[in-house]
Amino acid sequence: MATTPVMQKLLSQTRIPIIGSPLFLVSGIDLVVAQCTAGIIGTFPSLNARPQEELPKWIEEIKSRLAAYKAEHPNEIVSPFGVNLIVHPSNPRWEGDLEICAQHQVPLYITSLHAPNKVVERVHPYGGIVLHDVTNAKHARKAIDAGVDGLILVSNGAGGHAGTINPIALINEIKSFYDGPIILSGCMSRGKDVLAAQALGCDFAYLGTRFIPTKESSAQAAYQQMIIDADSTDIIYSPFFTGVPGNYLKPSIVAAGIDPEVVREAKTGGSNGGAVNLNKDARPKTWKDIWGAGQGVGSIQKIQTVREVIDEMIEEYQATRKRLLG
Ligand SMILES: Cc1cc2nc3c(=O)[nH]c(=O)nc-3n(C[C@H](O)[C@H](O)[C@H](O)COP(=O)(O)O)c2cc1C
Repeated sequence: MATTPVMQKLLSQTRIPIIGSPLFLVSGIDLVVAQCTAGIIGTFPSLNARPQEELPKWIEEIKSRLAAYKAEHPNEIVSPFGVNLIVHPSNPRWEGDLEICAQHQVPLYITSLHAPNKVVERVHPYGGIVLHDVTNAKHARKAIDAGVDGLILVSNGAGGHAGTINPIALINEIKSFYDGPIILSGCMSRGKDVLAAQALGCDFAYLGTRFIPTKESSAQAAYQQMIIDADSTDIIYSPFFTGVPGNYLKPSIVAAGIDPEVVREAKTGGSNGGAVNLNKDARPKTWKDIWGAGQGVGSIQKIQTVREVIDEMIEEYQATRKRLLG
């Protein structure tokens, strides 16, 4: 049972409680449409639609492709989509992107970094839902004060800018003062992982890395294959590339000519070229050349379509549920 009517409605619009998380440079229109038509919520960072004039075109194309799919498959669940806004002064686009999304009545927002008071104010009047990314209790309290509809708990091992707290500890700590919707992020790849998140009291599981090696993702082939070949020991957590600690694939660091031990030991954001003495233009670019992924890589074995991934997850989810409940 979901914690609020808003979450109950969202749950009823999915085949399995999964949100496909926003992935910088990886989530494009095709991935989002594939996720929503497979019956999970699909999302993308607004910054993937570039320049900004592309954003309304992306939203309209996603809407029309989902409507066309629904018209052809009236009995199937087609899930809503969402847009991720990085709410931070270093992102000069975010307020303009918010306005574009609100004018197009985007159903769901995922906000990161600063508390999203302005997003809540702008989108709640038309029924937009706001979920905010947090890695600790302090940021959770700020987001709750801003009036968000739910918290995404980004635990240790997650792809991208992950937290450091164990998921069980993080869920229990935040649930001690918040009884609203919780979405768990970090290292889940399989149907039974989603059921485990629900058993811990979460409404949804939030999966990113699992969708990088899919036929509909925008990730290049070598990146997809690196995830298939990797295990958890290939993931390095470091602030080296962006100043904020994140999880990256070690083989991509090596391929860029950077000593992975320098990255692993870094305590602050270095200039990624500094370590290899390259000039600015020749430096490897984070996300484009240095590839992000979470510790869950070890359970991803092959490149599939999103539909195949979700069908397999649903099968395992139901079998596990049956095994546990009899
Ligand atoms: C390559 C990559 C890019 C990401 N880009 C973003 C982003 O633009 N905005 C954001 O809020 N989170 C971003 N994340 C974090 C994910 O949305 C999510 O929290 C994480 O992938 C979940 O953990 P998992 O990868 O272990 O499933 C990114 C993660 C990865 C791996």
